[in-house]
Amino acid sequence: MTAEKLREEFLNYFKSKGHSVVPSSSLLPDDPSVLLTTAGMQQFKPYYTAKADPLSSPHTSLSGKPIGSKNAVSVQKCFRTSDIDEVGDETHLTFFEMLGNFSFGGYFKEEAINFAYEFLTKKLGITIDYVTVFKGDESVPMDMESENEWNNLGFSKENGNVKFSGREDNFWGPTGSEGPCGPTTEIYIKSMPESGQSTEIWNIVFNEYYSNKDKTLERLKNPGVDTGMGLERLAMVSQEVKNIFETDLFGPILSLIPKNMPERIRRIVADHARGAVFLLADGILPSNKEAGYILRRLLRRIIVHEDMSSDGAAGHSGYGFNIHLIMEKIISEYGSSYPKLISQKQIILDEFEKEREKFSKTLRKGLRELNRIGEINAKSAFYLYESFGLPYEIIKELGEDKAKGLGREEFDSEFDKHREQSRAGKEKKFGGHGLILDTGELKASNEEELKKVTRLHTATHLLQAALRKVLGDNIHQGGSDITAERLRFDFHFERKPSSVELSEVEDLVNRAIEHDLDMGYEEMPYGEAIKTGALYFEKEKYPPNVRVYTAKDSNTGEVFSRELCGGPHVSHTGELKSFKIFKEESVGAGLRRIRATVGEK
Ligand code: ALA
Repeated sequence: MTAEKLREEFLNYFKSKGHSVVPSSSLLPDDPSVLLTTAGMQQFKPYYTAKADPLSSPHTSLSGKPIGSKNAVSVQKCFRTSDIDEVGDETHLTFFEMLGNFSFGGYFKEEAINFAYEFLTKKLGITIDYVTVFKGDESVPMDMESENEWNNLGFSKENGNVKFSGREDNFWGPTGSEGPCGPTTEIYIKSMPESGQSTEIWNIVFNEYYSNKDKTLERLKNPGVDTGMGLERLAMVSQEVKNIFETDLFGPILSLIPKNMPERIRRIVADHARGAVFLLADGILPSNKEAGYILRRLLRRIIVHEDMSSDGAAGHSGYGFNIHLIMEKIISEYGSSYPKLISQKQIILDEFEKEREKFSKTLRKGLRELNRIGEINAKSAFYLYESFGLPYEIIKELGEDKAKGLGREEFDSEFDKHREQSRAGKEKKFGGHGLILDTGELKASNEEELKKVTRLHTATHLLQAALRKVLGDNIHQGGSDITAERLRFDFHFERKPSSVELSEVEDLVNRAIEHDLDMGYEEMPYGEAIKTGALYFEKEKYPPNVRVYTAKDSNTGEVFSRELCGGPHVSHTGELKSFKIFKEESVGAGLRRIRATVGEK
């Protein structure tokens, strides 16, 4: 069955079993505790913890509609950096699509296992090789209910097709530092009917616990089901091919990469190009930190191989491939399932070219330097990254024996150390006479600047609220930077706002200033703050207790803006006097930037 058909069959099957079909959320999650979306359940976290009600609360990542059912199904775009060193083998990827069905206090083990069994064996005609069940440990009991369900379907320990495992294999979660988690039952299938090898295909998680930051477990109010089946692996068994790269999800991409290149490199190029296209489409841009840094590493790794292959270096015989063409192919192949790839096509390709241009200035020199250096350790590897932009993966791959002693952990810690030093250096430089305020977002070196940045900070909150009122609730902050002269606010939005929309935004902020709204805060635990519907910045790490700043009309009680924030702010919006947008521009795929000021009328 084609991958496209598999997506459709999966959604239709669960729809017929009372699930709401929910679109994939962005690869850039709303959840500040994780960098990228790694699982289908992430967008549903508040439903498991009963912080939100799927029947009445607006869905977190979508357009503000409740999903209207206790059960949901999705095909979720996922990205896992944890597997990056495995890419190139038969089954691992960075980017992949996860088919998942979910229940938040609706059904539980019996139905979940029966659905999975019926879908695989009856709908797709696939034979299950064996299943695994949680064997229990000192804090979580053995999962006898799951074993029982499998017994009813003819699987058993005696027959050798029920196996037991502990925490390492049969317990999932949480994503990030805390969240829902629980025992799992996993389904294994022989990749080729005649082969001895079995692959894990479907992970069925029973979220029964909440794992706190200190790793203690509490029982969840809403025990639920969270499942994940990799589309690529399902396509592999359904199409009866030897590995995920032989499925129709990769065939068209690999056909553009010369066959005489090492197979592992061909797969890495295909995987990384696909991952990069999807990250760019979700508005992520190459940079030196967080998600942008992951994207940069993917792009640079494939740019190095493109460069080397065109040169006949490293045994590639000079046939070469063209990443630009590969990306166009990915966009056309995946565009019907992910229309955003098509609407963002130009931006994706342009951003890729920009990165290639930037990197090509230092790439050759970097490779020469890599060859020149004797043994490569974390320090010299970091030097290669910092001076020539060579990513860790390339250093490891091309350094071969010289880089044997180099490990990812040492490299990352060297990286963090330098970042820390450069931040400290910048602060020192900036505050020649000492900074009296530095929150990262706001900087002031004297009382007068402090007053100005405080006013602009409050204006930033009003601006974000006004943007949401005019352009819609899916506006999310992409970044903010405030100097004594101006505010600069980045937000995710697909198109250029019209001049009418911008003046409407400006008017709304000016009206909020005229009404002299009260600007005050309350302190509360993070979880409670999120429940108030307050906006928060997805990239920020918040402490356990946070402030929620609210701008509201003291006469009517009407709330204009509510945000998680450390301050400082003015106490009344009238202090801003007036607000003016003086520039609006695009700063990347789906990312807009507004510059504005406040002051006298
Ligand atoms: N959340 C589970 C996983 O990612 C289903 O494997």
